[in-house]
Amino acid sequence: MTDLLIGQTLSFSGNPMTEGIAAARHSARGGLLIEGGKIAAVGEADDLRRAHPDARVTDYGDALISAGFVDAHAHYPQTAIIASWGKRLIDWLNAYTFPEEMRFSDPAHAAGIAARYFDLTLSMGTTTVCSYCTIHPESVDAFFTEAQRRGLRAYAGKTCMDRNAPDGLRDTPQSAHDDSRRLLQKWHGVDRLSYVITPRFSPTSTPEQLSALGALWAENPSCLMQTHLSEQTDEIAWVKSLYPSARDYLDTYEAHGLLGPGGLYGHAIHLEPRERDRLREVDASLIHCPTSNTFIGSGLFDMDGLSASGHRIGLATDTGGGSSFSMLRTMAAAYEIAQLRHRALHPAELWWLATEGAARALRADDRIGNLAPGMEADLVVIDLASTPAIAQRAARAGDIWEALFPTIMMGDDRAIRSVWIAGRPLPKTA
Ligand code: GUN
Ligand code: ZN
Repeated sequence: MTDLLIGQTLSFSGNPMTEGIAAARHSARGGLLIEGGKIAAVGEADDLRRAHPDARVTDYGDALISAGFVDAHAHYPQTAIIASWGKRLIDWLNAYTFPEEMRFSDPAHAAGIAARYFDLTLSMGTTTVCSYCTIHPESVDAFFTEAQRRGLRAYAGKTCMDRNAPDGLRDTPQSAHDDSRRLLQKWHGVDRLSYVITPRFSPTSTPEQLSALGALWAENPSCLMQTHLSEQTDEIAWVKSLYPSARDYLDTYEAHGLLGPGGLYGHAIHLEPRERDRLREVDASLIHCPTSNTFIGSGLFDMDGLSASGHRIGLATDTGGGSSFSMLRTMAAAYEIAQLRHRALHPAELWWLATEGAARALRADDRIGNLAPGMEADLVVIDLASTPAIAQRAARAGDIWEALFPTIMMGDDRAIRSVWIAGRPLPKTA
């Protein structure tokens, strides 16, 4: 069966952050042809209708068809403790996060939260996530089982910690390596799933554990590796005291085989010049988590400087340090943080960061994150007038960007008209 989706369409021929807004392609009456779970053609609705008279047509009218959102850094086990009050990073981890993560030794709890997490993210139009799990292998099985059942492209790994975490939430260098390897062999490359080697961050791993995971990455270079980097100044001071011979925070990873092109470094706010240079040199991915950075009080990511210097940047919620599951809300926070640094991100740049940019950070932009022939048909259809407040502002719009921006700033799950996974619509997501 061939499907033809009609509506406004938004796609990218390049990176608008570096190539300018002309890299964004909008059609007011566009069409998307879908065959076998993939996008077969993108064009004008009338042309595609004429060329494919037998296609089943779904006409979304004025709604906007886009690639589904990609969330490049999240913690699905923190779903139930999102919006926990009053702490900065280290206290927040100890007071809220670690007690909740302990509960994931119970496979039934892990399965329940994984299902809830995907219900929530899909209702917000997010079609791919890259998540941390907990130290428990059961938490990884729960995540991938649920993602597989829904046919999603999804990324995750067992979070490794062998110090500075409570009893019941620590592994060892050996068990972290062996459990990660076993899970990797079980899940990596199965259907649309990818395993991600996941040391939580330098303070909760010994140098021995970082080395063991660096060795595992060297043996499995097709895996991504995710961790946290330079999120808060207190954390950076703690890393200095734990690794006295390291040149800087990044060096604690670099010295243990954990710096490379498939590395995803969450936050990356307070970077030293050497760290910026090395991250650029190896073409590592920096993952900007704006709602988290304001909620936990971490600081202002240098989007302008880092994108100008050619860093690979993705956007993410960092649920539940981040205060929302929605990539719309996340784009709004990225806009606000950039404004505080005197840079107004264009709606095309924000949309690119939440779709193709995040996919590029995951090195999956050849498969997801854009509307183009050959790409997997993971889509979101956006209602650009989903609330009275948004509708009255969008009614004044002179072009697509002015029409889209109110939804970026004020939209939520009510803006998600439909979600398609691998060429099939979800029953009803909003
Ligand atoms: N640094 C180490 N672990 C975490 C986490 O779970 N959330 C955030 N925001 N930062 C971290
Ligand atoms: Zn995180």
